[in-house]
Amino acid sequence: MRAESPVRYDADRELWDVFRYEDVKRVLNTDERFSSDPATMPGFEEEIADSEGEPPPVFDTMLFADPPEHNRLRGVVEGFFQPRAIAEQADRIRELTEEYLDDIKGGEVDLVSEVAYPVPVDVIAMMLGVPTDDRAQFKRWSDTLIERPNAKTEAAMEEFQQRQQQTQAEMSQYFAELIEARRAEPQDDLITAIIEAEVDGHRLSEREMVGFCTLLLVAGNITTTNLITNAMRCFTAQPGLLDDLRTGDVKLSTAIEEALRYRSPVQALFRVTTESVELSGQEIPAGEGVVAWLGSANRDGDVFDRADEFVADRRPNQHLSFGHGTHYCLGAPLARLEAEIILSSLLERYEAIEPVEADLQPIRSSFIYGVEEYPIR
Ligand code: HEM
Repeated sequence: MRAESPVRYDADRELWDVFRYEDVKRVLNTDERFSSDPATMPGFEEEIADSEGEPPPVFDTMLFADPPEHNRLRGVVEGFFQPRAIAEQADRIRELTEEYLDDIKGGEVDLVSEVAYPVPVDVIAMMLGVPTDDRAQFKRWSDTLIERPNAKTEAAMEEFQQRQQQTQAEMSQYFAELIEARRAEPQDDLITAIIEAEVDGHRLSEREMVGFCTLLLVAGNITTTNLITNAMRCFTAQPGLLDDLRTGDVKLSTAIEEALRYRSPVQALFRVTTESVELSGQEIPAGEGVVAWLGSANRDGDVFDRADEFVADRRPNQHLSFGHGTHYCLGAPLARLEAEIILSSLLERYEAIEPVEADLQPIRSSFIYGVEEYPIR
């Protein structure tokens, strides 16, 4: 695709696909031409509207806003996600990870359900200040929100949409109640901090806060889960690498970056053109949906040597797995820290880690890459 049709129109999906590294970067770098705001997509707002005709609060977040609105929404919370602020969470993340690992009795385990999924959910819940009892509910919401629509029949599609809307509504109500509780009784947690945060006289509205909590749950969990599983798949596939990581001959953080590149958890990002744009000699008219393929950009041979190989100590590594430009992942420092803590804990505890022969199933999502289960022993 990168060589023959780097920018192509897919008439079935009515979308443009962009495959080359430089083009993907340009799409993500040029907000004024490639918008993240769903309001710029004709008909989209009606499609996502709930029974009251309103889009769910998650659409009132930075992820779906263009500058200058984006900067207002991001500016209020950005400080909490800087590497230094996130590093303060390391001990608590390590404790949580150890608790999950203590529960593993040995033998065969599914890395996804035993570790890679529950730890990031708990970390977000812990940071926000969500009671531990609600974690199973969190997982169910997160699962539903990333599900791929089953468009085979109209009834199935309708059922899917209803399930999505109900989940959105349940989550919104849940977070609204939690925000109310923290307003009445502030605590040392992220929800309280978001309520109190003010930058240049800006505070978040209640709807924006609910949206932001939802966004953290959706954007932060499934992505980190898949980073951990994808990384372990890369590590176990290369003889001797687990030992090199244990001894430090290959730096774990460098290998994690390569796993991000080689098996990118987020494969694609969506934008809408605000005016007609030319990319790799192809004219894309205004008002069209564009899919920027991070997974493909990360394998672009013009940028990466041995692009289709997993090179554990690859440096430099300018992958686009956390996006690029204005919307560059707010949670990247947290995701990196979690991955490093969880993977190093696994390496320390288990002398031998090997995959169990299994038919790995891709997760049901069209833009997230990972597997449903990853049995190891
Ligand atoms: C944005 C990937 C973990 C919160 C993004 C974007 C990507 C991404 C590609 C850009 C979206 C766009 O341009 O439209 C990932 C990956 C992760 C991860 C691969 C794990 C390996 C997290 C975590 C959090 C988080 C742990 C929060 C706790 C966000 C937020 C945005 C974002 C809030 C929106 C930023 C903005 O619009 O300015 N992420 N993410 N992500 N991510 Fe992550």
